[in-house]
Amino acid sequence: MILGIPVSSDRGGCQYTSQNFHGIEGGYLNFGAAVSYDPITQYVVPPNETWVRQALIDAIRVQPRRILDLGCGTGSTTLMLKQAFPQAQVIGLDLSPYMLVRAEHKAQSANLDITWRHGNAEKTVFKDASFDLVTASLLFHETPPTVSQAILHESFRLLVEGGQVLILDGNQNTLRQLEWLNDVFEEPYIRDYAGGSVDASMGAAGFAAVQTQDIWWINQVTSGVKPMRGENTTIQRSVGQYAPTTDTTIDNNDLEDFGSPAFGTKA
Ligand SMILES: C[S@@+](CC[C@H](N)C(=O)[O-])C[C@H]1O[C@@H](n2cnc3c(N)ncnc32)[C@H](O)[C@@H]1O
Repeated sequence: MILGIPVSSDRGGCQYTSQNFHGIEGGYLNFGAAVSYDPITQYVVPPNETWVRQALIDAIRVQPRRILDLGCGTGSTTLMLKQAFPQAQVIGLDLSPYMLVRAEHKAQSANLDITWRHGNAEKTVFKDASFDLVTASLLFHETPPTVSQAILHESFRLLVEGGQVLILDGNQNTLRQLEWLNDVFEEPYIRDYAGGSVDASMGAAGFAAVQTQDIWWINQVTSGVKPMRGENTTIQRSVGQYAPTTDTTIDNNDLEDFGSPAFGTKA
C-alpha cells in the first residue's frame, strides 16, 4: 500500500521506467513524474487543458453507472467524470502508484468519492462487462501500438453491450502533418501514434460506430461502442445509434469485486 492505494508488485514493463516522458528522466513511474505532471500538462494541452478534457465528457452518449478511466494519471479527467456523473462509481487505474496518490489527494480536496486502482490497463482484474464507459485520456501517445491495441481489447472485454469507449489524445492528422511537433514532445512512441489510426485500432478491437472528432486542431476524441450481440456492426457508422444504458441503479455493495452492472453478478 502507498498511502492507502492498493499496489501490486508486478504491473508494468520496463518500457515504462526506462524511457523519458515529457522530458522527465526515468519514465513516468517515478515520484518526480507525478509531482511535475499537472504543472507541465497545463502548458502542453492547448488551448486550455480543462476545455480539451471537457470534450471527452461532452462526447459521452451513455448514462454510465460504472466508469473506468484507464491510465488516469493524477486523475484530472477522472475527477471531471465523477463531477459529470456523481451517481456513478468511478474508478481510476494507473501503473504508477505515485500518480494515484496525487489523484487521491485531488479527489479528497474536491470532496469526490473515486476509487483508485494500481494496475496495467492491458490486463485488468475486473470482470467481463463491468463498466458502461471506459475512457483513456492522453495515454495512447505514450504507449507502443501493441499496448494501445491490447488496451482497446481489454476495454471491449470490460464494457457491457452498448457500452462506450472514449480515447482522448493528440490529433493524429496534425501530428503527421507537423512533424516538428513530435520533437517538441519527448515521447518515445509519439511517431508510432501519429502514424497510426485510433479509428482502425478500435475497429480491430471489435468496436462499432467508431468516430473521431477533432478538438481544436491538436487533439482528438475517438468514440466507439461495443455492439449488442447479433448486431450488424458494419452498418453502425454513426454515433447517433448508441443504445445507452438507462438503468442508473448502483449496487454500492459491489464496489470491491466490480461485478457486472449489466447482469448484477458478483465475483
Ligand atoms: C500522460 S499520462 C495521462 C494521465 C491522465 N490520463 C491525463 O489525462 O492527464 C499517462 C499515464 O498513463 C499511465 N500508464 C501508461 N501505461 C499504462 C498502462 N499500460 N496501464 C495503466 N496505466 C498506464 C502512466 O503511468 C501515466 O500516469
